[in-house]
Amino acid sequence: MSSEVVIEVRNMVKNFGPTRALRGVDVKFYAGQIRGLVGENGSGKSTITSIISGMQKATSGEMFYRGQPWNPSTMVEAQEKGISMVLQEANTIPDCTVAENIFAGRFDEFSRFGLVSMKKVNEAAQKMLDDFGISHIRAADSINKYGFEDRKLIEIVRCVSDDTRVFVVDETTTALSLEGRNILYKLIHKMKDEGKSVIFISHDMDEILEQCTDLTVLRDGEIIGHLNRAEMDAPDAVQRIRYMMVGREIGEAYYREDYDTSHLPEVALELEDLSFGPIEHFSLKLHRGEIIGFGGLSGCGMHEIGRAAFGLEKLRGGRVLRNGREITNCHQAISEGIGYISKNRDREALILEASIGENIVMPSLPALSHATFISPRAERDMARKEIESFRIKCSGGRQWVNTLSGGNKQKVSFGKWTAKGSDVLIMDCPTRGVDIGVKQSMYALIAEMKKQGKAILLISEEMAELIGMADRIIVMKDFKVSGELERRPDLSETDMIEYVI
Ligand SMILES: Nc1ncnc2c1ncn2[C@@H]1O[C@H](COP(=O)(O)OP(=O)(O)OP(=O)(O)O)[C@@H](O)[C@H]1O
Ligand SMILES: [Mg+2]
Repeated sequence: MSSEVVIEVRNMVKNFGPTRALRGVDVKFYAGQIRGLVGENGSGKSTITSIISGMQKATSGEMFYRGQPWNPSTMVEAQEKGISMVLQEANTIPDCTVAENIFAGRFDEFSRFGLVSMKKVNEAAQKMLDDFGISHIRAADSINKYGFEDRKLIEIVRCVSDDTRVFVVDETTTALSLEGRNILYKLIHKMKDEGKSVIFISHDMDEILEQCTDLTVLRDGEIIGHLNRAEMDAPDAVQRIRYMMVGREIGEAYYREDYDTSHLPEVALELEDLSFGPIEHFSLKLHRGEIIGFGGLSGCGMHEIGRAAFGLEKLRGGRVLRNGREITNCHQAISEGIGYISKNRDREALILEASIGENIVMPSLPALSHATFISPRAERDMARKEIESFRIKCSGGRQWVNTLSGGNKQKVSFGKWTAKGSDVLIMDCPTRGVDIGVKQSMYALIAEMKKQGKAILLISEEMAELIGMADRIIVMKDFKVSGELERRPDLSETDMIEYVI
């Protein structure tokens, strides 16, 4: 490994009003490294990397890029000079083509006499997509045609070029399925071998230990320490890193520990012979006290099943039934006690320009209001309870959701349904971007919900999560069920993977 310092940060402070997001950070990033950046939700990972990549300014402190003072004004400027970042949140421009997204702000490269050749733009974009191994995405298509995962892959393509020297990946892998992750891993290793500097943010400890060459731990806006590869390979590495992250021991128990797959006899939600989009004749009975897991690659149809169960898909045939009544839209779903945690948290799960409190109480409003009156006190108490239970890092229930860190937003999107006490919960990637401590609480809560007789549909891209939590797992491939697995102590990812691919 070369020891050339590519980026150096000195005594960086970032305040957001009273919140001290960074408290005097000193850190160096070297060439030929994949540096993992870990820390609990709200510890400052996105803040520090977004300052390095020109998205926002520090309150004070200095940066040096290849020995020169570094002070980018915009992300476009930083990218032109070789530093780019894939943001944690969705960051594509709607209603434009894929190619326009890839070259946004850089059309000059294709203009002659002031005219931009769209043909050339499309060709160049398609070549980049092909080289990256995602030829199924067509450059000339509207971006609206593509789902969440494909859009993330398009963002990655936009960020990386031969001139990239520093590449920041902020909590991107949770948006990707297995295939997408492997494409990204290959890319960062290639960049490392070319002497570039990669900064990799993730809450998935296995992934960090497998992919990174070095590791830096942040806690409450401060650097707690660094680990080199040899230290990352030590048998107690995970315990040590967790301890550095949270400043206390975390128990071993993580997923459910019981193997009781029994459930109550009543059907809580029935999907009866559903046909919609590419899905044909799909049926499922979810009982009270049952956790059914859905797994597969991102495009396998499992996310769509979740949407349909909440009344969000237009059906060609079949019915969604709850208590004998047909659910045809999401308002009806909510009033029948169904909750839905969307994978796409910024677009579908949260109102970003509203407070934490308002988001949390939203699905409960009919229950909180007597005729037209909503008790502000009940509203406040409800919000406070969820903030405490999920340790949402904020100044209080009135803080706006768009100022929360990614994982803390996810907690709000989970909390609004637990606050309502929905009897049926459809969870699409519910622990996305949440740190281990809170993940543990969420799993404990899901196990508790089963005991209380609630019915849960757990859709997840993490096989370990499904194996750890579900009574049975339905695996989908190409919009059809490819396999089914019962909960048992020796069930492994290998058992599952044969149905996945
Ligand atoms: N625009 C903003 N306004 C107010 N506070 C903010 C803003 N952006 C970030 N913060 C606060 O700064 C702190 C650090 O946030 P940051 O997004 O860097 O955390 P993170 O380590 O990336 O967390 P996560 O793992 O949840 O993504 C948090 O307390 C967050 O609420
Ligand atoms: Mg973040």
